[in-house]
Amino acid sequence: MALLFFIISLLCTTGVTPAQFQIQPESDAVLTGSEARFNASLKGKWQIMIWEVQKLLVMTISAETGPIPSSERFSATNYSTGSTSRWEFSIRNVSRNDSGPVTCIVQGQFGARTAQLLVQESGTVDILGGNLTAAQDQQVEFQCVTSGWFPEPAVNWSRNGEVVETSLFNTTTSQSHGYMFNSTSILKFNAVSNATVECLVTVPALISPLSSSVHLVVEPGYQDEMRARTQSQISGEGANGTRRGQVNLGYQTDGQTSVPPSESGDSSFSKTDDSNICEIPDIIKSNLDENGHGGARHTPGGFRKHRHVTIV
Ligand SMILES: *[C@@H]1O[C@H](CO)[C@@H](O)[C@H](O)[C@H]1NC(C)=O
Ligand SMILES: *[C@@H]1O[C@H](CO)[C@@H](O)[C@H](O)[C@H]1NC(C)=O
Ligand SMILES: *[C@@H]1O[C@H](CO)[C@@H](O)[C@H](O)[C@H]1NC(C)=O
Ligand SMILES: *[C@@H]1O[C@H](CO)[C@@H](O)[C@H](O)[C@H]1NC(C)=O
Ligand SMILES: *[C@@H]1O[C@H](CO)[C@@H](O)[C@H](O)[C@H]1NC(C)=O
Repeated sequence: MALLFFIISLLCTTGVTPAQFQIQPESDAVLTGSEARFNASLKGKWQIMIWEVQKLLVMTISAETGPIPSSERFSATNYSTGSTSRWEFSIRNVSRNDSGPVTCIVQGQFGARTAQLLVQESGTVDILGGNLTAAQDQQVEFQCVTSGWFPEPAVNWSRNGEVVETSLFNTTTSQSHGYMFNSTSILKFNAVSNATVECLVTVPALISPLSSSVHLVVEPGYQDEMRARTQSQISGEGANGTRRGQVNLGYQTDGQTSVPPSESGDSSFSKTDDSNICEIPDIIKSNLDENGHGGARHTPGGFRKHRHVTIV
């Protein structure tokens, strides 16, 4: 370890190590209309700090006098302690066009650090048709419609609070207005007992999914009635109709479902690295990080869930 530090300090004799100037979080997914916040922390003397959103200068902070007022949407809070200067830069009421790089530039030896702002939208979720009454072993179908999401949301189902395995449903997604995602998910299974069926939709900026739920009521005597009615109405329809309660090979009884809910990631997202010539291995970086956070605050997809949630 000592040797490693020696090599790194050799490599870093000039310039500043990343730990002495950093921006956190490195990427932030927030909902339209909410607030995005980034901390810039640095050690050492500085005079002017500049914040850019999509390469547009929106905030100037003087070490001496603090933020120089500009637009109402942007503000900065001083969290400096001891020898560490920390300024939290905030963008209120974010809109889709704020998505992209957020850069902090400190004149002098520090250079620039860039984070990514991902502005997302939570739309609607609705299971069509409401509550359903079915006979025992009858195949039932539920349709969940979502609209106005960005990026493409993750759609999942639960039955009595348990995640439904993905083989029981299909989701098709389309884009409207060029960027909003709408989807329809169809869930099918054989009715066994009464159940609460829930459709759950989420994007990374949402802490918990939005959902819609309906009740399935299974009536043991209902099947005979249905069969009688079907036979007396159309003689040919029964054999392949979904209401006849055929064996569904994809079906599993309650409690056997074990597929974890997945989160959708924005595949177009890419982390922009600042052009610091001195790259330090992650292990060292997290040791040097005074907060001990390192990159651990970020979920594997590169997202950090944000506390500011607007549920429509
Ligand atoms: C910035 O740092 C302050 C002080 O440590 C903390 O309270 C705040 O939550 C941080 N903000 C972000 C966006 O991480
Ligand atoms: C920021 O906070 C630190 C620590 O409290 C203080 O020393 C410094 O003067 C403050 N800077 C401004 C511009 O208010
Ligand atoms: C971003 O969108 C908002 C509202 O939709 C608009 O007021 C603002 O001018 C736009 N900014 C840019 C840089 O296009
Ligand atoms: C659906 O069923 C639940 C539970 O039986 C009931 O509370 C709710 O009012 C029903 N909803 C509708 C729209 O009938
Ligand atoms: C989903 O689609 C596949 C292929 O089209 C089909 O075989 C399967 O039965 C569908 N499942 C449901 C639950 O609709």
